[in-house]
Parts: sequence; structure tokens; C-alpha cells
Amino acid sequence: MRIFSGIQPTGRKHLGNHIGAIRQYVAGQDRGDPAIYCIVDLHATTVAYDPAELRARTYDTVATLMAAGLDPGRCLLFRQGDVPEHSELCWLLCSVTALGELNRMHQFRDKSLDRDLVSAGLLLYPVLQAADVLAYRAHEVPVGEDQREHLEVMRGIAQRFNARYGETLVVPEHRIPEVGARIMDLQDPTRKMSTSAASQEGTVYVLDEPEAIRKKFRRAVTDSGAEVRRGPDKAGISNLIDVLAAVTDSTPAAVEREYADARYGDFKTKVADAVTAHLAPIRERYADLRADEDALEAVFAAGAERASALAGETLADVREVMGVGPPRAHRRGRR
Ligand code: TYM
Repeated sequence: MRIFSGIQPTGRKHLGNHIGAIRQYVAGQDRGDPAIYCIVDLHATTVAYDPAELRARTYDTVATLMAAGLDPGRCLLFRQGDVPEHSELCWLLCSVTALGELNRMHQFRDKSLDRDLVSAGLLLYPVLQAADVLAYRAHEVPVGEDQREHLEVMRGIAQRFNARYGETLVVPEHRIPEVGARIMDLQDPTRKMSTSAASQEGTVYVLDEPEAIRKKFRRAVTDSGAEVRRGPDKAGISNLIDVLAAVTDSTPAAVEREYADARYGDFKTKVADAVTAHLAPIRERYADLRADEDALEAVFAAGAERASALAGETLADVREVMGVGPPRAHRRGRR
């Protein structure tokens, strides 16, 4: 089973990223053959950004992933921009990508609002994401709920490619966790938790200090009721139930049973304590890992070499069936 996932190096990683995705990456390490995880710096260039900050955030992200348990000895961990096959495959896949479909993507529509420049990269974002996965012929893609639409486009691209050029690419499946696939903002539980939220108060960062985490949970928006149970009119409490279930490896139903008689205030304290205990070891390991950028570059270099060897095989097949570049017989010793 080959596993692939990617994560953007923009901003600080939050509890939604951690519960929806990073935990799944760690769990996939020993199942994956191999499990491949990529910091997608090329995707981060699709909106306005600062180049020096992009490099720094890329180190932050890889150090966070390693602190959370990714071990470059047990998985393949690399930076997208180090492996040119991704960009090349993105271009080649454009030939089987429908413009109308890209135009309709929710993320494209949301991200296009209020921008001076809506870049072509923003429109092509899902094609590069498809290339990330298809280059490795990965079967499984662990992601949060917000990536479902991108995964559908990716599958469509792979199917269209195979129909047009013959069976070449693997059509991947998403792996969306049962609990915590969509962690909501603590201040506005009708919106997903994200780095771009209006208020920082609603977003819990993986590297937040324990006191900051407690404060954010204490102030979490709930409802005028008094029962710790899930429900359509109880977005805030439902979210806290999911968070507690996820970080304690329990289920929402078990959490509801355990806290059936609890008051909201006490329940929030329990959730805050559990999240603090869960994230504290990650924050502690992070500091050492982040301090050694040479070591992080060495992880990227080793990862890129392995990734490029795998992606290179797919690219050779894709070029061959598409009739691009010299035929295979003339390609010995060349890419
Ligand atoms: P990104 O960097 O926005 O998010 C990384 C992962 O975190 C998940 N996630 C959440 N899960 C639960 N609740 C939330 N509030 C929440 N917010 C984010 C996301 O679903 C994601 O799994 N386009 C991708 C990066 C990417 C990629 C790929 C993913 C590039 N190439 C190939 C998979 C395969 C993204 O922007 O993720």
C-alpha cells in the first residue's frame, strides 16, 4: 500500500491539521510501502508570499511533523520544490484537465476573493496536487474533509489519463478520518479551524504554550443549553467532543457517555487538559529539531533523492505514452 500526503508550509500548524492529517501520517508510516509525505512549497507560491518566510515556514513545518512522530527512517519525507518531476507532471496532466472543473472548485473561488492578483497558479493548484500523488502511483491519501473535492478532481484526472493514453496511473482513494476530519474554529464553530481565521483566539496551534491552549478552550463558544452531546444546534460542543475523542483515541459516543452529567465549564477544562497533554511533548521535541537547519536540509536531500527515483519511473512511462520527448529506446542514460 503506497501512501502519499502533502501539507502546506504556510502559517503555523493548528489542531485541525494535527487531528485531521498529521496523526494519520504518523499512523501510516509503518503501513506505507512507503509512506510519502511532502511539504508543498510550490503550492505556497500561488498566493502572495514572502520568499524568506517561505523557507523558514518550510523548516517549521518539517520540524513540527518530525516532532509529532514522523521518522525519516520509516517514511519518505521531502520538499516538493526539490523534485522537478512534480512540476513536469502537472503540465502534462493539464492536457486531461477540464478548465470548467478547476473554475468551479470551492477553494479556488474562496481564495480568489479580495485579491489584487488571482494567479493562474491558484487555478492550477489542484492539478499540481494531482501530480504530487499520481507521480508516486500512491493508493491512499490521508487528508481532512476539506480536501475531498481536490481528491475527486485528482481521481478524475487519473481516470481520464488512463482512458486516453492507456492504463498508466493509479487512481487513488482518500482516507478521511472518522473523527476529527473537520475541526472547527473555537470562536466560530460554523467555520473550520484555519490559519486564516479572523481571530487567533479560535485557532489552537500545535506549538501553543499550555496556558494559551487553556485560555482558548476556556473561551470557546458553546450554546445556551447545558448538555454535553452532539447536535445540529450544538456546533461548539460537538466540536469539543470530537477534539477530546481524537486526542484521547476514544469515540464521540464514549465521550458523551462519560461527560453526560458534566457542566460546560468543567468539560472545557477536561478538553483543554487533554489537548495540552497531547501537544506538550510535540512542542518540547520541536525546539531541538527546528534549531538544526542543516539536519533538516539533510532530511530533505535524502528524501528528494528517493522521491525523485520513484517519480522518475512514472514520468518515463507518462512521457512514453504521451509521445513526449525521445522514445524509450533512445533515452538510455537520459531522463
Ligand atoms: P493544508 O496544508 O491546508 O492542510 C494539511 C492537512 O490538514 C487538513 N486540515 C484539517 N483537518 C481537519 N480539520 C481542519 N480544520 C483542517 N484544516 C486542515 C487538510 O485536510 C490537509 O489534509 N492542498 C493541500 C496540500 C497538498 C496535498 C497534496 C494533500 C498538496 N499536495 C497531495 C494531499 C495530497 C492543503 O492545502 O493542505
